[in-house]
Amino acid sequence: MTQLPLALVTGGASGMGLATVERLARDGFEVALVDRNAELTQKESARLRDQGLTVSAHVVDLTDEAAVRALVRGLRPISALVNNAGIFDERKFLDVSNADFRRAYEVNLIAVATLTQESVRTMPDGGRIVNIASRAYLGAKNHPHYVASKAALVGYTRASAMELAPRGILVNAIAPGLIDTPILRALTPERLAAQLALQPTGQAGRPEDIAQAVSFLVSPQTGFITGQVLFVDGGKSLGGTTS
Ligand SMILES: NC(=O)c1ccc[n+]([C@@H]2O[C@H](COP(=O)([O-])OP(=O)(O)OC[C@H]3O[C@@H](n4cnc5c(N)ncnc54)[C@H](O)[C@@H]3O)[C@@H](O)[C@H]2O)c1
Repeated sequence: MTQLPLALVTGGASGMGLATVERLARDGFEVALVDRNAELTQKESARLRDQGLTVSAHVVDLTDEAAVRALVRGLRPISALVNNAGIFDERKFLDVSNADFRRAYEVNLIAVATLTQESVRTMPDGGRIVNIASRAYLGAKNHPHYVASKAALVGYTRASAMELAPRGILVNAIAPGLIDTPILRALTPERLAAQLALQPTGQAGRPEDIAQAVSFLVSPQTGFITGQVLFVDGGKSLGGTTS
């Protein structure tokens, strides 16, 4: 039997990561689901395996550099890497601490860089990397540390694309708008309503909308796109929301 190509999805136990794990497994990948939430990681990977999908479970805190490098060294080469795990919280501009910045950067940027660096050592030529940034990197209120970390992730995406293009490894980012996942619990009901009001389509996206975009970007048929940011945001990045 031919071996399925291996995809690794971080933050795969919840939200858009979980939808992506399922989608890539249905697309024909063996998927390594990586998350720090042990209970959800075991539960969701078992549920997907019960559906006949090839999914392995790996409980790792991605801010643990040694654990991340050991994870990759314990796997066969990764053909498609989806850096999806991220953290989000709200703080008023004048209340954000250096610790808030460091925490956001540790998960949303530095963990991505560690995992990417370790993965590309063995990634086959023609591999794919997708980084989940955020539409917020263009600018947003009440979470400057998050916005800055995601803007940095877009910069890292572009740098990686330049570095890895000679090997045919394509690196792109997706910038989701408001997507209906558990991460939105960080918003008060008032802030959630304010965010929804900014959606030109009037509604939040679904985790499957992001999984669809990842599926497109990691497909062998998608061969000439690299260093780009794909906005999957119901038009929020268009700017104006008034008539
Ligand atoms: N939901 C939105 O509206 C939205 C919008 C733009 C961008 N994003 C981004 O999308 C990505 C996925 O978010 P989501 O909305 O599906 O959220 P989510 O909270 O449902 O899922 C995030 C997952 O990442 C995992 N995770 C967080 N830190 C980790 C760490 N240090 N090590 C291992 N796993 C860790 C969590 O355990 C969780 O399972 C994030 O990068 C987020 O910033 C979300």
